[in-house]
Amino acid sequence: MLPILIKGCSHGAELPPQVPNILEKIARNKRIDTTPEGARRMYIMTLGCLAPYRRLGIGTVMLKHVLKYCEKDGNIDNLYLHVQINNESAIEFYKHFGFEIIETKQHYYKRIEPAEAHVFTKNSQTIRMSGDTS
Ligand SMILES: CC(C)(COP(=O)(O)OP(=O)(O)OC[C@H]1O[C@@H](n2cnc3c(N)ncnc32)[C@H](O)[C@@H]1OP(=O)(O)O)[C@@H](O)C(=O)NCCC(=O)NCCS
Repeated sequence: MLPILIKGCSHGAELPPQVPNILEKIARNKRIDTTPEGARRMYIMTLGCLAPYRRLGIGTVMLKHVLKYCEKDGNIDNLYLHVQINNESAIEFYKHFGFEIIETKQHYYKRIEPAEAHVFTKNSQTIRMSGDTS
């Protein structure tokens, strides 16, 4: 689990100094696994921004960092993650970056309702297309 808390940022302003450290942590805590079919994929466990600082582009900075990491690696077939079905911000966020829902899992969450989770994925071709921007 990698909790990310960024305490201040505004449109057009420099990102706060702790952001590079957070991005460094993302790289250190990465989880890459291999499917039975041999596909190498990276899992996003948690990517979050404190509520008062959402819609300021901070999530975009973090996700682009992950996309660039995958692009540089050159050997990651896809990225995937779970999103609770009522998490509209996250659903819109990942759709905005070209992630697609490939499955909805019942009873995925044990202690929260609703328990269903969408599985989002983005393949290597579209990772390359979106990782090229800063
Ligand atoms: C999902 C999350 C990380 C997005 O972070 P953010 O900093 O608000 O995202 P950004 O400002 O970079 O948004 C980029 C784009 O995503 C889309 N988006 C993000 N939040 C949205 C919302 N609430 N409604 C509609 N679209 C949204 C928009 O297209 C947005 O671009 P725009 O602001 O120019 O319209 C943030 O909402 C969050 O921390 N949620 C709680 C944790 C969580 O649920 N994480 C996901 C599971 S891993």
